[in-house]
Amino acid sequence: MRKHIMDFKNRTAIVTGGARGIGRGIALALAGRGANVIIADLDEESAQRVVNEIKSGGSRSYFCETDVTQQWSTDQMVEATLEEYGNLDVLVNNAGVGGAPGFANRKIPNVEDWQQTFDVNVFGIVNCSQSVENYMIDQSYGKIVNISSIAGRVGRSGFATYAASKAAAINVSQAWAFKLAPFGINVNTVCPGLIWTPLWESIAEWRKSTEEQNAELSPRQIFQRAVSESVPLGREQTPEDVGNVVAFLASDRARSITGQAINVDGGVRMN
Ligand SMILES: NC(=O)c1ccc[n+]([C@@H]2O[C@H](COP(=O)([O-])OP(=O)(O)OC[C@H]3O[C@@H](n4cnc5c(N)ncnc54)[C@H](O)[C@@H]3O)[C@@H](O)[C@H]2O)c1
Repeated sequence: MRKHIMDFKNRTAIVTGGARGIGRGIALALAGRGANVIIADLDEESAQRVVNEIKSGGSRSYFCETDVTQQWSTDQMVEATLEEYGNLDVLVNNAGVGGAPGFANRKIPNVEDWQQTFDVNVFGIVNCSQSVENYMIDQSYGKIVNISSIAGRVGRSGFATYAASKAAAINVSQAWAFKLAPFGINVNTVCPGLIWTPLWESIAEWRKSTEEQNAELSPRQIFQRAVSESVPLGREQTPEDVGNVVAFLASDRARSITGQAINVDGGVRMN
């Protein structure tokens, strides 16, 4: 693990969806800067691997089985965090989906795709934020970082379920930033660009079946084509890239930043 300034010594962070992909990158970035990290996810096996990785790097970590779509579950997540470490300083709402199971096989999203995308990508943020806010208000301190997407920056045809949910995530973050600002709590959003994870692989499968120019390509080739056609810096982004920005926003170095949405996308969207 690379040496970083220990911004989070004795601090505790929850990372939802921390079992793999971008969430794992965020969890490692926070742990590498000294945080105790709760991996809140549905997938116990993958989450335990991340917990072990963090422990072998010298930080503390704990898996809490969590379904962010259920308020009772996110309440339990907070209780388990406080029981395990006695404090809670950072919440990263990273858990996200592209649709209901099997969405990549449907040309047009069905009503379950709309519902389940919003259940995780929007209500997941609302549930987790509601579960932590009273504790953070009482201690007059807290950092919430929500993971949206550059897909949430502008509407377009195709994959509207996901894009609309990510636009809502940016807006919900701003609402919480206003609401919690008087209590010294910062709420910001990170919009990742193109990162090769199981989620992007499903999106590539969906594009393969819906977009003629991608019909003959493998999912990874579809991803690489998207990178070369759309990223000014010319390279894909990584979970570590996102983790570094989340760690900054969750630190006291970013104490004057709230209600912002920051693209980590190699310049795809310059707003
Ligand atoms: N991969 C990209 O290029 C990209 C780009 C922009 C934004 N994002 C966003 O970044 C976040 C992470 O994406 P990823 O690519 O790492 O996805 P991923 O599918 O690899 O990982 C998502 C994680 O969230 C967990 N999860 C899903 N539903 C959950 C629920 N109800 N409760 C708790 N955990 C749940 C999964 O088990 C998994 O561990 C998502 O919000 C995604 O929309 C990804």
